[in-house]
Amino acid sequence: MKLVKLIANLGYGSRKDVTQLFRSGRITDADGEVLYADDVVSYETIRVDDEPLDPPPGLTLMMNKPLGVTCSRKDPGRVVYDLLPPRYNVRSPALSSVGRLDRDTSGLLLFTDDGALLHRIISPKANVTKIYEATLAQDLRGDEGALFASGTLLLEGETTPLAPAVLEVLGPRHARLGVSEGRYHQVRRMFAAAGNHVETLQRVSIGALALGGLAPGEWRALDAAEVALIFSNP
Ligand code: URA
Repeated sequence: MKLVKLIANLGYGSRKDVTQLFRSGRITDADGEVLYADDVVSYETIRVDDEPLDPPPGLTLMMNKPLGVTCSRKDPGRVVYDLLPPRYNVRSPALSSVGRLDRDTSGLLLFTDDGALLHRIISPKANVTKIYEATLAQDLRGDEGALFASGTLLLEGETTPLAPAVLEVLGPRHARLGVSEGRYHQVRRMFAAAGNHVETLQRVSIGALALGGLAPGEWRALDAAEVALIFSNP
């Protein structure tokens, strides 16, 4: 791919803007030598204003989604995309969140510009386990683990039962729930079906990829080994 297109696709501006960056000598190699639009150079050596280029396409990120932001692009309030550098929101191919978390759910959220990877993660066939930690309004009754594991639980308004899910009780009103599907408000609706109410909800892992030490609102790029963890058992 020609350098102008490659750099424009990373969100540095239109092709015209990037051509102008070349003309003004702001695109150089690692030694500060000015590059020209038709130079053939390796990606890692390119600098814009002395800074390495953003990661190439095939980018996957993890974020600790804070409370109060939505996973939409259009919501009038704060959206998860506002937490990424502005350039990341005008890349081509576009970076999209992998599924969604509710506005009032925090925790591990993935983004990728790789459509095939996105579909692999959310496909029911991949059977990727997502683990949520919930605090509840009322004490657990004791029968929730069996109910969630049964494979027969029908959520209100649905006709297909939920796949078996694994409950780990952490305290009277505190539990971890591992689910392999991604139905609308699934975890909240599961506890509602068990006569309870979720007060706080955080996603702590996807496959064997855990939130780790990311603070709310922080994000970082994943390497290939971390992407592979998504498809491993937690
Ligand atoms: N289940 C929910 O109820 N909400 C989420 O955000 C994710 C799973």
